Amino acid sequence: MRMRWPLLAAALGILAAGCGQQQATGGFHQISYPAGNPVAGAKLFSTTCATCHGSNAAGVSGVAPALVGRPSLFTLYPHQWQLAAFIQTYMPKTNPGSLSKQQAADLAAFVYALNGKLGPAAKSEVAASLGRPPAPPSSPPPSSGAGLTSAIAAGQSLYQRVCAVCHGTNGEGNANNSGAPALWGPNSVVKGQSVGQLASFIKANMPLVKTNGVAPGSLTQQQATDLAQFIAQQNK
Ligand code: HEC
Ligand code: HEC
Repeated sequence: MRMRWPLLAAALGILAAGCGQQQATGGFHQISYPAGNPVAGAKLFSTTCATCHGSNAAGVSGVAPALVGRPSLFTLYPHQWQLAAFIQTYMPKTNPGSLSKQQAADLAAFVYALNGKLGPAAKSEVAASLGRPPAPPSSPPPSSGAGLTSAIAAGQSLYQRVCAVCHGTNGEGNANNSGAPALWGPNSVVKGQSVGQLASFIKANMPLVKTNGVAPGSLTQQQATDLAQFIAQQNK
């Protein structure tokens, strides 16, 4: 049998001795994480985590796992401070280490509360505090992307494979609760943008995270232009 608690006790002993080397998830040390405020955590989740984990923390297929309804999460992190330490070390995945201890503790409290671990009242309170993800940033300056109209079909098939996971098969946005904006239709946020503007934004920023095998920054200029042609066409 594995000696989980003796090891943890040993880890805490090492910490007490003043040696704070951090290892993998099991080896986090309880270094004074505050209790955490679940409602503050819910608000921070909406602005910082929902893009990948979904606005209701239900996960986004192909992007990030659910943080609700997964008992294994609490086997991995049986104490709130352990979850806080994981979050502070590894999340948000695009900018790990950017959260304060207080923020990580608030987020861990939020995850615990949302899963009913802090009682039914806390659960409904945090569920009600979940807001909408932040508005998208303004567009970067235009570039010289000039594609052919015949690229639209290529852009369409790439869009459905990689972008529709978040932006929706009909460009309506917020697919899988991703918080991604609409790219065409009545709520389009890119209406009026040129193909060059769209292509340079897409090349630099999309997909937001690795999606169906396509990593951020890995699209070629041609692919970005094809996608931009397709999206611009849908906005006409
Ligand atoms: C850019 C996408 C992205 C963002 C933003 C993000 N995560 Fe994650 N998160 C992931 C992915 C992907 C995983 C799966 C593990 C991995 O690949 O590191 C994950 C795993 C986790 C896990 C562990 C789940 C498990 O099964 O062990 C927790 C907890 C978590 N994230 C919390 C957060 C919190 C809290 C935030 C906001 C501060 C956040 N994440 C922001 C992508 C993201
Ligand atoms: C994992 C989810 C996700 C995927 C996959 C994804 N996006 Fe996005 N996209 C977002 C989010 C969220 C935003 C809002 C900006 C932000 O928060 O960074 C966004 C913003 C955009 C915008 C900018 C809209 C504006 O405000 O000007 C464009 C254009 C865009 N995405 C195109 C694409 C294309 C093309 C693909 C496929 C290659 C793609 N996205 C894949 C989540 C995603």
